[in-house]
Amino acid sequence: MRGLSKSPICFILILALHLSNGDLRYSVPEEMKRGYVVGNPAKDLRLDAKTLVSRNARLDADGVSKRFSELDTRTGALIVSEPGDREELCGSRQMCLLKYELVLEKPLELHSVVVQIQDINDNAPQFSSDKIKLEISESAVKGTTFFLGEAHDADLGQNAVQGYSLGRNGHFSLHVGTNSDGGNYAELVLDKELDREKEQEVTLFLTATDGGDPERSGTAVIHVTVLDANDNSPVFTQPVYKVNLPENAPMGTVVVSVNATDADAGVNGEVMYEFSRMSDKAARIFSLDKLNGEIKVTGPVDFEEESYYEMRVQAKDGLGSASDAKVVVEVTDVNDNSPKIVIKSLINPFPENVIPGTEVGIVNVQDEDSGQNRQVRCFIQENVPFKLNPSIKNYYSIIITTGVDREIVSYFNITIIAVDEGTPALSSSKSIHLSVSDVNDNPPVFEKIDYGAYMTENNKPGTSICSVSARDPDWRQNGTVLYSLVSSEVNGVPVSSFISINADTGVIHAVRSFDYEQFRNFKVQVVARDNGSPPLSSNVTVSVFITDENDNSPQILYPAPEGKSLMTEMVPKASLSGSLVSKVIAVDADSGQNAWLSYQIVKSTDPGLFTIGLHSGEIRALRDITESDSMKQNLVISVKDNGQPPLSATCSVYLLISDNLAEVPELKDMTYEESNSKLTSYLIIALVSVSTFFLTFIILILAVRFCHKRKPRLLFDGAVAIPSAYLPPNYAEVEGAGTLRSSYNYDTYLTTGSRTSDFKFVASYNENTLPSTHTLNRIQNQFDPFEENLFTVASSDSKSRFKR
Ligand SMILES: *[C@@H]1O[C@H](CO)[C@@H](O)[C@H](O)[C@H]1NC(C)=O
Ligand SMILES: *[C@@H]1O[C@H](CO)[C@@H](O)[C@H](O)[C@H]1NC(C)=O
Ligand SMILES: *[C@@H]1O[C@H](CO)[C@@H](O)[C@H](O)[C@H]1NC(C)=O
Repeated sequence: MRGLSKSPICFILILALHLSNGDLRYSVPEEMKRGYVVGNPAKDLRLDAKTLVSRNARLDADGVSKRFSELDTRTGALIVSEPGDREELCGSRQMCLLKYELVLEKPLELHSVVVQIQDINDNAPQFSSDKIKLEISESAVKGTTFFLGEAHDADLGQNAVQGYSLGRNGHFSLHVGTNSDGGNYAELVLDKELDREKEQEVTLFLTATDGGDPERSGTAVIHVTVLDANDNSPVFTQPVYKVNLPENAPMGTVVVSVNATDADAGVNGEVMYEFSRMSDKAARIFSLDKLNGEIKVTGPVDFEEESYYEMRVQAKDGLGSASDAKVVVEVTDVNDNSPKIVIKSLINPFPENVIPGTEVGIVNVQDEDSGQNRQVRCFIQENVPFKLNPSIKNYYSIIITTGVDREIVSYFNITIIAVDEGTPALSSSKSIHLSVSDVNDNPPVFEKIDYGAYMTENNKPGTSICSVSARDPDWRQNGTVLYSLVSSEVNGVPVSSFISINADTGVIHAVRSFDYEQFRNFKVQVVARDNGSPPLSSNVTVSVFITDENDNSPQILYPAPEGKSLMTEMVPKASLSGSLVSKVIAVDADSGQNAWLSYQIVKSTDPGLFTIGLHSGEIRALRDITESDSMKQNLVISVKDNGQPPLSATCSVYLLISDNLAEVPELKDMTYEESNSKLTSYLIIALVSVSTFFLTFIILILAVRFCHKRKPRLLFDGAVAIPSAYLPPNYAEVEGAGTLRSSYNYDTYLTTGSRTSDFKFVASYNENTLPSTHTLNRIQNQFDPFEENLFTVASSDSKSRFKR
């Protein structure tokens, strides 16, 4: 009694085996346990399973597909993650296909994976009711058929209902017919007339079996009540009702009205409708009006949930004669889903030195609708240096278009907008906060191009001199500035023994006490270095100027301090008032006012006889010298500088009023060194005379030369050369024009030549202004032939210091 109709099932199997190009296809029986390996896409794609995690491999469900399997990133296998029932997943569809996308990043790769769920025989055939009531007139003739309906098996193909069998009985046999849609239905065939008087009721067992292995079956009990006649069954106006229903149709919407007519009259012609077969899902959404056959919406219709419903409707007349028709509802899509934007990966924060064109993120856009409603446009709204580049399918890369500088913009707010092409269009947006991370790309920059600092000499060690400061706009340690000195030498001494710098604050301290007379300024390079890796640095020159303090008392060069040698000036007897008799020469190692010397006679043998120039130190006769004046004259002269407080020194000058050495009988008395022999004295005096003559001669030549020049008179009447042997050892200029020369030695000049020479100290001692370096240079150039004879004390420093 088993009616097998194999050909449609074979056809379906052939369809299922047809693979589409490029897709990875796997098939798996339904109801497999969690962890069951469906296939290994990694192996099939020749991917190295080890790279899967780093490439962020994952399985994205495509569209509305339900989750069923997932990727095991350890092995690359596709495994069952949520065991599922084919009938639950795909309903009555013949092909149960779950579509996935295998997504890999770096670079982005996309592979379609299709999993076909194969049917297993897990459902038994089932009748719509396990009790079938038939009322059969006793007049029914042999061969009359009675519709029993169809058993339903949720499985497919071989696993669906394959045949019916009827329990042993004396009246009926079974006939299996085929519906227009391929289903098998059963009919009772009356083999032997009924006799109501003999049997009022007949009970039969109808069994439906499927073709699975093992076989499953369902049974219904048929109660036949023997009656009088009902000749016609209701007939539907059409065998299949096919309608389209837009999704989201409101409750109460009439989907379709089925209609069947029965030719019988009265109760035998009253038609009642009911669903004879429908899925649970459909039962929740549709209702059938028993009387008028209207099918209405009673639940939510969602295209994305289910787009196809198939139901069977039975029409029965009052006495149970029935027939059925099929209702197919195809749900049409309405643009009711806005696109979904998913950020799949994002480099956040990204470094500021990123190259334009770099991909900083991947965005996936999905729309659950179909057709036009699924087409999505995607773009970035703001005016930011990013754009979306369409990548594979519905993936976009976020590309940076220009270089960025964290020191100008440290983050970006980006809004990605997705708009679908339905009418009306739906859109959605997603905001991303992208930060820029720092790269050490700015060196520290000093606030000034160079620094100058003044420091008074004799400072305390540790005194702060000045501070330098550099800025670095980078972040944290890349912008943290540390200061240090570049090692160098000043006068052969490492600079670090003069000053030190605080690495954090940039404050420069003196390490030792400075001496202006040793050096007046020095330069040092300070480096500001940030803490980046590698660090960036810049440097600046700091000039330290040491300013003078009056810490040196005047030093008298001529006459030499007592006790050294015989220092006696000869004054001609006939000297007139105002004639120059001698000159005191003193120097002061300080500069400016601190070295501006003034001379004063503090004690003299004859107070009215001699006077001294306040600043020139020239000793002149105050009146004509007469015979009556004492031959020996002693003067005590004090030399004082102009510092605050002033320092001074004194010396004694011995004068001998005489024209002839022979006239000096008491010379011996005058000498302070009694031990000197007479011969020595004479020798010295002879030497003095010769030297005086020579000096006079030189000065004459000088005078002649100076007369031909214009200006120099302002500074000089004659030049005096002071031999370096008389200079204090430290008395040397560190820098500038006043370099001392020591190539000439004029000992003889000074010890003897004072009588006729016009001693003039260089400008700064006579004039109130101190010549600048330039002035001095020019003077020297003008006196080129004598340059080496000149002793210049002028400082090269600026005037400001002098005006102090
Ligand atoms: C950017 O977004 C952040 C929040 O993510 C907000 O605090 C900030 O104000 C936004 N900036 C601008 C310029 O819109
Ligand atoms: C500093 O810059 C370097 C690159 O030059 C970068 O790797 C580091 O993260 C930056 N540090 C900070 C605190 O931003
Ligand atoms: C100081 O900076 C200049 C350029 O600004 C560079 O050439 C020089 O090497 C730097 N000196 C030191 C010691 O870093």
